[in-house]
Amino acid sequence: MVKICCIGAGYVGGPTMAVIALKCPEIEVAVVDISVSRITAWNSDALPIYEPGLDEVVKKCRGKNLFFSTDVEKHVSEADIVFVSVNTPTKTQGLGAGKAADLTYWESAARMIADVSKSNKIVVEKSTVPVKTAEAIEKILTHNSKGIDFQILSNPEFLAEGTAIQDLFNPDRVLIGGRETPEGQKAIAALRDVYAHWVPVDRIICSNLWSAELSKLAANAFLAQRISSVNAMSALCEATGADVSQVAHAVGKDTRIGPKFLNASVGFGGSCFQKDILNLVYICECNGLPEVANYWKQVIKINDYQKTRFVNWIVSSMFNTVSGKKIAILGFAFKKDTGDTRETPAIDVCKGLLGDKALLSIYDPQVNEEQIQRDLAMKKFDWDHPVHLQPMSPTSIKQVNVVWDAYAATKDAHGVCILTEWDEFKTLDYQRIYDNMRKPAFIFDGRNVVDEAKLRAIGFIVYSIGKPLDQWLKDMPAVA
Ligand code: UDX
Ligand code: ADP
Repeated sequence: MVKICCIGAGYVGGPTMAVIALKCPEIEVAVVDISVSRITAWNSDALPIYEPGLDEVVKKCRGKNLFFSTDVEKHVSEADIVFVSVNTPTKTQGLGAGKAADLTYWESAARMIADVSKSNKIVVEKSTVPVKTAEAIEKILTHNSKGIDFQILSNPEFLAEGTAIQDLFNPDRVLIGGRETPEGQKAIAALRDVYAHWVPVDRIICSNLWSAELSKLAANAFLAQRISSVNAMSALCEATGADVSQVAHAVGKDTRIGPKFLNASVGFGGSCFQKDILNLVYICECNGLPEVANYWKQVIKINDYQKTRFVNWIVSSMFNTVSGKKIAILGFAFKKDTGDTRETPAIDVCKGLLGDKALLSIYDPQVNEEQIQRDLAMKKFDWDHPVHLQPMSPTSIKQVNVVWDAYAATKDAHGVCILTEWDEFKTLDYQRIYDNMRKPAFIFDGRNVVDEAKLRAIGFIVYSIGKPLDQWLKDMPAVA
């Protein structure tokens, strides 16, 4: 029986391995992690991550051919294929601080693999890593190999949260990069056989190691660039009276551009986009390509600009101050159908409002108070460490109140900000919300989910990203 072990039971490792176990009943899959609480949760009824469809997959395989364990060394030593899906934070100190990937966790995983291995292994990079990481890992492994053969593959994961199970069941492509030697090709074939259980072979792309590593960074950079492009247009739409949804629709009809990923928003978030672009920028700089680095930097700059613009509209439209005013925040996760808050635009928007002394009442269907307080107190990039190694948060912020209901959040509020596109925000009883708010009542829709005309008819002053502005907003233009 082929044995697979995955180091890192996070958003990537957990769902990916669960799907491999489901689709390959004859393969034994062990997911290991140094975090006891994470593994305990994977073995319980309350999984550590919220992902539609995941519970069902885990329940079908757990205890049969899918195991979650903290016994990292045992499972690694027994495995034929070891996936590594550990944290790759952005460095906050030293060379490349604020840009380069910190490969501490990767290196310690590689050294442990070398230490405990007694048989040949295929080691698969699953977390996004800088180009040439595979080469570094290969060096660590071969210098400590005791005669064991390690083949390194890069198999970046393209799943998006909220649709992870669907994406894993039916991927656009599976990418496997490896060495162009006979041993490297054999390792590629072994991993291809795993995916071929359910993925059509023409969707399994094989390449060299560096192409695979760079393809992942490039794909995320292209995706983020699309959002920054449409967000840049949203500012121009507001200034000219155009409607960004109409513009995006017209642009997306061009088959060369395509309709997906053109929703203007308060900004992109998530664990990958910003981190991967910063990484790309750093790699370009290290390779003497400052023009290319600056080109990609701009994608992040526009994303930051979009969040700042949003806060500025809120403050300026409310008579240039939100001090002491209750502002309801609907949605904190970085997108709908996930409880993940990593790099969510809500953090920057809330911090901006808190900087202006607002009182925040926050509701998200999947994010709890502890997480929100931790996010608002944490320093940039500190989120990307294993939970038990994250710095302790300072005392919670008193101006922030977290509630479990949109109506409680909006009661007596001066303004409502929608920061995540949860479906339930489309069907709230906005008349009831309006009746219970201070007047004038404002709605700032950072995801373009509400029907602005209906809300205006109720009496709200409405700001929607990239849409023609209310006279009220035109009279109080935001200074970005
Ligand atoms: C992304 C990539 O899509 C995935 O392939 C990769 O493996 C990991 O990074 P993820 O971050 O989970 O996935 O979510 P994604 O759906 O890409 O959304 C990222 C951010 O962009 C979210 O904050 C989302 O709200 C925002 N977004 C997305 C927009 O603002 N507008 C859009 O049109 C699409
Ligand atoms: P991703 O979104 O890429 O899956 P996560 O942060 O959700 O990232 O998951 C990474 C996981 O890797 C964490 O649960 C962390 O505890 C685990 N991890 C980090 N280093 C090691 C290691 N050396 N051995 C085992 N697990 C590790």
